[in-house]
This record gives sequence, C-alpha cells and structure tokens, in this order.
Amino acid sequence: MIVCSCLNISDHDIRKAVDWMRAADPDTVITPGKVYHALGKRADCGGCMPLFLDTMRARDSFAVAGGEAPPMLRNRLARLARG
Ligand code: FES
Repeated sequence: MIVCSCLNISDHDIRKAVDWMRAADPDTVITPGKVYHALGKRADCGGCMPLFLDTMRARDSFAVAGGEAPPMLRNRLARLARG
C-alpha cells in the first residue's frame, strides 16, 4: 500500500527502513525524517504524516528495546498525529 503518494513510499518501504535503523542502532530514536532520509527522500506536503507515523509505530522494531519511544518523542509524535 502506498503511504506517501508524493514520493511513492509504501508501507513495506517504511517497515524495512525502521527494521534497518533498529538493527543498525538498538538505541536510536526513529523519526519520520530519519525514515525519509534512509529512503533517500525528503518529505514534501506532509499529508501522509498520520498514516506514516501509524505505520512506523505498528512495527515491533520501532520502540527502543524494553519500552516505548522516549517521552520527548512520544509527545512530538502525538502532536504530529493530531496535525
Ligand atoms: S503525501 Fe507524503 S509528502 Fe506528500
């Protein structure tokens, strides 16, 4: 399924990027910007952000081992999801 129609990014692309980042660094905070960067792209309109974030969060490897995203990121993700 295409998540970002501006840049033709699929849910599969996002999941693979999240898995790759988590494997590369177990403690990294994974952000949408890092996913775009890992895919060699830059966000355009941002209209995909709620679904983009949901796709990232749904991936088991998204959270830092043993917990959720750090509080700072949780608040930011919540604000982005609200639009
Ligand atoms: S739909 Fe993703 S940047 Fe426009």
